[in-house]
Amino acid sequence: MSKPKVVVTRKWPAEVEEQLKALYDVQLNENDIQMTADELKEALRTADALLPTVTDPLTAEVLGIEGKRAKIIGNFGVGYNNIDINIAKKHGLVVTNTPEVLTDCTADIAMLLLLMSARRAAEGNRLVRDQQWTGWRPTHMLGQKVTGKTLGLIGFGRIAQAMARKAHYGFGMKILFCDPYPPAQQIIDDLQASRCETIEELLTEANFVSLHCPGGDATRHLINEKRLQLMRPSAHLINTARGDVVDSKALIKALKEGWIAGAGLDVFEGEPNIDPGFLNLDNVALLPHLGSATEETRVAMGNRVMENIAAFFAGLEPKDRVV
Ligand code: DGY
Repeated sequence: MSKPKVVVTRKWPAEVEEQLKALYDVQLNENDIQMTADELKEALRTADALLPTVTDPLTAEVLGIEGKRAKIIGNFGVGYNNIDINIAKKHGLVVTNTPEVLTDCTADIAMLLLLMSARRAAEGNRLVRDQQWTGWRPTHMLGQKVTGKTLGLIGFGRIAQAMARKAHYGFGMKILFCDPYPPAQQIIDDLQASRCETIEELLTEANFVSLHCPGGDATRHLINEKRLQLMRPSAHLINTARGDVVDSKALIKALKEGWIAGAGLDVFEGEPNIDPGFLNLDNVALLPHLGSATEETRVAMGNRVMENIAAFFAGLEPKDRVV
């Protein structure tokens, strides 16, 4: 029997690509150049499985092409707002993602950004590199203490809970969260966490606010000018979720005008094209979407996609099926 044909849209860790080669008739992307809409359509027409990632827009137009051969989309990433899920469902496509395996590393990056923002690490790094550091002095570059402060999490899924564990047990932080679907009471009790009924309440009380909700239309500009104005002038906003959850223009204004003390961002509206307004600000730490970027996690993500498509081709239900 011939092997299923699989198209991978970006370069994956070598050890996962080797396994794909052994199991499938696979088209890899050795140059690692983002595929065009036409190339994605062609892949859907010619392959049994398309393995895209979070930067491949699988729009209604792409998914709607005639004569599709593909039956499954194995997304490399936990977030799948790159895929028009309703249209995928309408066309009978199975879609899977890669939860769990990137939880800790993404929470680590959120914690890193929290610390960077509180302790002005990006600004300090720039000062040293620009050879502008004139020496230690008691009032130089004072930031804010993290230990014992209050962390507010908007969205309290796996990654937020992992961050809460690091913050609570590692830094003695008090945990607040706001989520319409709270986790089991045991998880809340273990973290001595308190639920806020509204985002507004959380924004007013937290010293650090970290975003952990999915991207997409429902959460676009969830953090807008009005909400940023509710935060404390000493507070910091951390975003490792999706860029469009925050209105960039409003955040730039908030950072410039001192409505909040700082921000740590791993994701951006329209990334990788970052609003230039961020670039000259000292009170923002900027990272290039590194949440899951460790060797271990990216291999695990690839393996997770492989498990999902293997189950599908064996006639079983893939464990990370989204639709
Ligand atoms: C995801 O998986 O959704 C991330 O944004 C990439 O790590």
